[in-house]
Amino acid sequence: MTKLWGGRFTKAADKTVEGFTASLSFDRRLYKQDIQGSIAHARMLGRQGIISAEDAGAIVQGLTEILAEIEAGEFPFRQEFEDIHLNIERRLTEKIGLAGGRLHTARSRNDQVVTDVHLWVKTEITAIQALVSDMQGVLVDRATEHRDVIMPGYTHLQRAQPILLSHHLLAYFWMLERDHGRLTDSRRRADISPLGAGAMAGTTFPIDREFTATELGFASVYPNSMDAVSDRDFIIEFLAAAAICQMHLSRLCEELVNWSSTEFGFVEMDDSYATGSSIMPQKKNPDVAELVRGKTGRMYGNLMAVLTVLKGIPLTYHSDLQEDKQRLFDAVDTLKACLKVTAGMVATVKFNTARMAGAVRQDFSNATDLADYLAKQGMPFREAHAVVGKLVLYCIQEGKFLADCTLLEFQRFAARIGPDIYVAIAPETCVNLRTSAGGTAPAEVTKQLAMAEQILTNRI
Ligand code: ARG
Repeated sequence: MTKLWGGRFTKAADKTVEGFTASLSFDRRLYKQDIQGSIAHARMLGRQGIISAEDAGAIVQGLTEILAEIEAGEFPFRQEFEDIHLNIERRLTEKIGLAGGRLHTARSRNDQVVTDVHLWVKTEITAIQALVSDMQGVLVDRATEHRDVIMPGYTHLQRAQPILLSHHLLAYFWMLERDHGRLTDSRRRADISPLGAGAMAGTTFPIDREFTATELGFASVYPNSMDAVSDRDFIIEFLAAAAICQMHLSRLCEELVNWSSTEFGFVEMDDSYATGSSIMPQKKNPDVAELVRGKTGRMYGNLMAVLTVLKGIPLTYHSDLQEDKQRLFDAVDTLKACLKVTAGMVATVKFNTARMAGAVRQDFSNATDLADYLAKQGMPFREAHAVVGKLVLYCIQEGKFLADCTLLEFQRFAARIGPDIYVAIAPETCVNLRTSAGGTAPAEVTKQLAMAEQILTNRI
């Protein structure tokens, strides 16, 4: 069958080349945006008197029918027509005849394709933001439920200081809050219309770019036609925001993998979010968390791929740019799936709160509090640090923890230690006294929870 662009060709494309250059298999996902963009363009052509009102009407009608055909699964997708744009245009001409051939007046596939992607990505960003909010809601719920559970906090994966489980969970709320903001930001840059840039230099027809932009819900138009057709920054920005969000999910999943090991024993995955081993009958594996962590590799890959595609492209459109779509689609699908599954996993995971609370009695995570106790009595903190260091060493040699020392033992290291030391280094005290802004004290965590809830409420 003749190509739409076949005029200057004397030979048909090699079959292998046809398969190689075609993007239909993946860009058919853009059908709705493509039709939306074409309808806006046709209306504009009619309004401006570039084509007759009658032709514009026939085009809009034909495109509306094509949309229904595609949604009913009745559209004849044909790879020999390369991509979704040419497939729809060809079908339009089959349906309405010559008028269909007027649709592409004052337009190029170069402004057409990227208009479609702008529209598509805007919708998807909004959908992803809703999933981010859902995930944040789950964290708030679990933090509320376990507000007062004490557990060890870590640095260097070594027991550091006692914290509240709710404080730990809310740390992820704030990471996701920044993700939400980055997505809003990247959506703003996607919210600009390239339509009317033509192939790259603009057009000789008296088009109205503001009209099509408004019809399509764009906030503004690209001021430079060359930039309009070759800009893919908005995709890269989204991919970067998506990669960062995925990295946050991955860190959370890494914690859950660790915590579900016998060594930690802090959580147990719900049976509905775990799998077994084909050989070891006792196993319950945190595969969901592992897979979310693993998929971070492809999310970074998607970002790197598109950055690399762009780096060597002079102005303006080059077919290299066709390589943006699969990476973008994969990023959207992957991030959505990971957000959904991680939210479900966190919503159902069982926190072994007794084990967490017990852990802080079997470690030296109250050592800072002992040093603080001495510092508050006037000993320079650096000296207090050294005293407690010696005391910890003594305890390790004796095979006990700080709270196991007698008052006499304490006083051998620092005479000013009194009987109130036992309360001062109890895990509850360690947590309750960390009342500095953003600290782990229950009062501060309650403030955080209120802020988090407020953010989510304002979003609805
Ligand atoms: N399939 C192409 C893409 O995805 C559409 C634009 C093609 N433009 C062109 N001049 N060949 O980028």
